[in-house]
Amino acid sequence: MNPSGEDALLASLPSLASLDVHNRRVLVRVDFNVPLRPDRTVRDDTRIVAALPTIRALRERGARLILASHLGRPKGQVQPELSLEPVGSLLAELLGCEIRLPDEVIGDAVRKLVLDTRAGQIVLLENLRFHPGEKANDPEFAAALADLCDLYVNDAFGACHRAHASVVGVPARVHERAPGMLLRRELEALGRVVYTPEHPFVAVVGGAKVSDKLTVLLAVISRLTQGDSLLIGGAMANTFLAARGVKVGASLHEADRLSDCRTVIKRAEARGVHIELPVDLRLGTNIQGASTRTIAVEDDTELDDNEMALDIGPDSVGRFAARIRTAKMLFWNGPMGLFENPAFARGTLGVAEAVAACPGYTVIGGGDSVAAVRENGLAERVDHISTGGGASLEMIEGKTLPGVTALQPS
Ligand code: 3PG
Repeated sequence: MNPSGEDALLASLPSLASLDVHNRRVLVRVDFNVPLRPDRTVRDDTRIVAALPTIRALRERGARLILASHLGRPKGQVQPELSLEPVGSLLAELLGCEIRLPDEVIGDAVRKLVLDTRAGQIVLLENLRFHPGEKANDPEFAAALADLCDLYVNDAFGACHRAHASVVGVPARVHERAPGMLLRRELEALGRVVYTPEHPFVAVVGGAKVSDKLTVLLAVISRLTQGDSLLIGGAMANTFLAARGVKVGASLHEADRLSDCRTVIKRAEARGVHIELPVDLRLGTNIQGASTRTIAVEDDTELDDNEMALDIGPDSVGRFAARIRTAKMLFWNGPMGLFENPAFARGTLGVAEAVAACPGYTVIGGGDSVAAVRENGLAERVDHISTGGGASLEMIEGKTLPGVTALQPS
């Protein structure tokens, strides 16, 4: 991290171990915003498992724990299908203890339950976003949450880019506060990528839209130098190809973003950064269907008007993998194709395998790229897999997260 900024900030935050938690009420902001199956069981428990070390450590030291999280975007209203109840059941299983789940986020019944909680016991508040005060960072709502606890711990890296009540309003009102172990690990890993990049650095960026990732692309390029590489895949690569005059047929692309793509390419070239775009594409005629064929980008005129590029092809995977092999440090965000459909998952899987085999320091940020690595048993071979989607991208952009700033000693 940069010695003057984030690094100094992280060093200035109290460690979890330094807090006197025994028999005291500790509110831990966690990010249990996890995908649920139609039967409302948890589909991916990564974020819950990632918060266990902090929860276990506090429990063992006799804290009276109040866990608080959001789930989905219920817009300030109670939506029973977004209750944290399934999360509470899984957590009880993972920890082997009872989890007390009140029906509400704040209120007299919640307060009574919390006051009755003894050392080592856990209350999981209902979905914070059932209350409109959470997103609005409403002072009364923040005060009611703060009133439940003696100490505050933030272990919700994935929510630290949101200036919501439980992320910034509560720590502003609770004097004793600290980052949890997960938050510290995330800040160290992503901070290393942002503030002390090692070269050759390889950035792999995919996903649907250039417009979603333009600021990320420009921020990444500003830190890259001669000999580094930016590999672009996913539907956003179609927009880059279109900007180079390649025919993209019915492929998802943003016709109004061609000049942004040219700006990215020009800035990269000016810094001596190598940009790698797909050289071949796997095509389909609809997103549910099978792959119809693979075509070289240089044969683009053969592409039918109803054909869509839905994955990068094998030659592209080979070229991406060759660059990835050279990396001393690597950051990857976003899938290479329509990874949910196995017919178009090979590009993302190929990149995941190359990243797992990369000898350098490797960090994956958020979403489908993480799923690709986990589902294929490659997670152990990656140095850091972030639990944050938007939060990890904001860090890559060089932004300071409001949830982290809020933990600074007053
Ligand atoms: C995430 O899933 O990225 C975090 O939990 C934040 O969720 P949000 O984008 O709904 O604020």
